[in-house]
Amino acid sequence: MGKIRIGIVGTGGMAHAHAGNFQQMKGVALASCLDVNAERAKTFAEKFGFKKVATDFDGLLADCDAISVVTPDALHAQQSLAILRAGKHLLCEKPLTISLEEAKEVAEAARKASEVGVIHMTNFSYRGSAGFQKAIELRESGVLGHIRHVSSFYLQEWLAAPIWGHWSNEGFLWRLDKRTSGGVLGDVGCHILDMTTAIAGDVKRVRCELRTFEKVYEGQLVSEHGGKNLDANDSAVIEVEFSNGAFGVVQTTRWATGHANHLRCEVHGTEGVLSVDLDRNWNGIDTMIGEKALMKAKWKSKDLKPTPSNYERFIKSIKTGRQDQPDIVRGAEVQAILHACEQSSVSGKWELVPSI
Ligand SMILES: NC(=O)c1ccc[n+]([C@@H]2O[C@H](COP(=O)([O-])OP(=O)(O)OC[C@H]3O[C@@H](n4cnc5c(N)ncnc54)[C@H](O)[C@@H]3O)[C@@H](O)[C@H]2O)c1
Repeated sequence: MGKIRIGIVGTGGMAHAHAGNFQQMKGVALASCLDVNAERAKTFAEKFGFKKVATDFDGLLADCDAISVVTPDALHAQQSLAILRAGKHLLCEKPLTISLEEAKEVAEAARKASEVGVIHMTNFSYRGSAGFQKAIELRESGVLGHIRHVSSFYLQEWLAAPIWGHWSNEGFLWRLDKRTSGGVLGDVGCHILDMTTAIAGDVKRVRCELRTFEKVYEGQLVSEHGGKNLDANDSAVIEVEFSNGAFGVVQTTRWATGHANHLRCEVHGTEGVLSVDLDRNWNGIDTMIGEKALMKAKWKSKDLKPTPSNYERFIKSIKTGRQDQPDIVRGAEVQAILHACEQSSVSGKWELVPSI
């Protein structure tokens, strides 16, 4: 097998993580990149040593075996469909799409593409945490007993404190407008829902409340800025009923002062509990398993051997021909949960999660 020729569409903030990771790997060549901002694509190509800057999507497809989609959320579906239908391997950023209909269409295209050996992945990047992987393994092994209660959060503070730059900057602003983003729910809610449900099990139904607060710009409260409506949700509280009967709550917000980027998931079963706190230990897990430990309420913390990132798993899958998780269908399943959350935030009722 020759080198896997990688392409990237969208050369903004997150594309640096894709290029930086692929750059380190053996058997991989940075072939081509594309951005509507041609100057940005050129600077990006020079920084990472891409062979070419594509001038259109067809040109990108022609020069690559595998393509990362790292554009704003609303473009993922259309670009992913083009990549899958061209028979190229696909690593699509999260959230997979901005609607359930699109997610179903992309999942269908991915299933079809799998039949001819195409590898696909949704970049739920926290899957690279060894603690996260261990938690899946422990829950599936049954040592926690019957799962009863789950509590998870994903907290960020960037609307209150410009820790990564001001929210009015280009890279953030599209995330605050409903027309281009599913808000905090779509943007990072998808990560914590992937994490929570990969660990605790599938979701049957949800009840969700969303809030959008006015933003502060130069001391004034504003609800639009720079031609964008600041109307996308920025806080979400989700009650979750799992298919295994467990109950729980998942919350996420961009107003969590004191937390730059903090994910945690705690799963309580009849025979034990596990807790993964990525802010505290990316490669660790806390557990309390068995009656003796529970009777003392004594946690055991364990450091784990690092596990491969999604980028590594994606390339390995292309080399071996064996599809890994989280694939595009998984991305669509998470989109179905987001859809039920949005429905519930309008109806005020519990909403069933549609199947994909
Ligand atoms: N997995 C993660 O942890 C993670 C982290 C951050 C962002 N993301 C995701 O990555 C994606 C990009 O986010 P970002 O922070 O890099 O945003 P960004 O705004 O910094 O970059 C987006 C880039 O896409 C380009 N673009 C816009 N329309 C385009 C088009 N039609 N064709 C080609 N390029 C186009 C923009 O010019 C920009 O350079 C989003 O979907 C986001 O949710 C994922």
